[in-house]
Amino acid sequence: MTETTLLDVAYVRERFPALDDIALFENAGGTRVPYTVIERLRRYMTENQVQPGAAYASSALGAERIRESHRLMAEMINATPEEVMVGISTTMNVYLLAHALRPGLHAGDEIVVTNMDHEANNGAWRRLAEHGVVVREWAIDPDRAELDPEALEPLLNERTRLVCFTHCSNITGSIHDVAAITRRVHQAGALVCVDAVAYAPHRLLDVKALDVDFYLCSLYKIYGPHLSLLYGKREHLLAARGQNHFFIGEDEIPLKLNPGGPNHELSAALGGIIDYFDALHAHHFPGSNAPLHQRLGACFTLIAEHEERIAEAFVDFLRSKPGVRIIGRPTADRHRRVPTFSFVAHGQDSEEIARHCAAHKVGIGAGHFYAKRLVDALGLDAPHGVIRASMVHYNSAAEVERLIRYLDEVL
Ligand SMILES: Cc1ncc(COP(=O)(O)O)c(C=O)c1O
Repeated sequence: MTETTLLDVAYVRERFPALDDIALFENAGGTRVPYTVIERLRRYMTENQVQPGAAYASSALGAERIRESHRLMAEMINATPEEVMVGISTTMNVYLLAHALRPGLHAGDEIVVTNMDHEANNGAWRRLAEHGVVVREWAIDPDRAELDPEALEPLLNERTRLVCFTHCSNITGSIHDVAAITRRVHQAGALVCVDAVAYAPHRLLDVKALDVDFYLCSLYKIYGPHLSLLYGKREHLLAARGQNHFFIGEDEIPLKLNPGGPNHELSAALGGIIDYFDALHAHHFPGSNAPLHQRLGACFTLIAEHEERIAEAFVDFLRSKPGVRIIGRPTADRHRRVPTFSFVAHGQDSEEIARHCAAHKVGIGAGHFYAKRLVDALGLDAPHGVIRASMVHYNSAAEVERLIRYLDEVL
């Protein structure tokens, strides 16, 4: 890769249908999918939509297509296929994981959750209090809207079993130092469960580099179909209690954790995410035959630079508005945040601002986005939560100009 390689946004945008419908800045809620995902879905539904895994050709090929996608998802996050479970959503994956870990937790054992996380990595853990588990809250500093690692220290002790926190908030976009926090939690003798849903669309995922115990991301926010990925270290998944039928063995991971299993055609379509990144890589780095995880790394380097570039104008705009309070770091710095921006406008209804933009074909959101504990902790002076504008790499500088133009009419 040369220093000057920039993301070719026109090339990117041609790979996604319907991007010109609206300028979409609600990507943290769910991203568009590229043609490659749709093509794998079409192919599976056309050629393989029978019970997979039987001897007849369409069924055997169907099972192989699902297996291939599963393997690619594991490689995408630098894991092995037995360490990865494809589930229907992150919310459901955490719910299943909490049930699977519960038999290993005893009355008086402690877990730590935050008031910054989306409720998916919160409620299922907090409910373990009904079984005698002590739940401690790692609370944000409301002025900075950040988790301070120092504030975790007094919550760790010899009874701590698990610390659940977010790689990146779906409201503030701030990135946490997951590797450092995980090291500290491991020193204290506990495990971590990290929500990477808001981080995953923007950066290379690498569970081995982070040394996390459990890690989650929603594939429909990474340009894929509506499914989710749960990673767990092999020894932890083996030790977790199976949630599936009695005849599914405790050593059958990930199947034992996944009653009902994920949707077949969507599972088969997941490989289309990798087809897309492969095309992106080949376009920008012709002739390279680097391994998949490295190819993805090269793509995400371009993506992070592009996202930072288009976000800069938006941060400058928000900062120029005296009535606007940015929630989190007022910077586009890609080392400190992803381009998910939330703010409130003093005395203005957040929902009305979102409606004004929608009328001009600019899609932004308003509300708490299921990070209700975080929004409640912020003490906002605007009705209907925060306004959120979240960018991904297919957004263009012209779209950001459009976003600014219509926000400028009301802020
Ligand atoms: C940070 C974060 N975590 C978890 C979730 C829940 O994901 P899912 O919809 O797959 O349950 C979301 C969804 O918006 C999210 O933004």
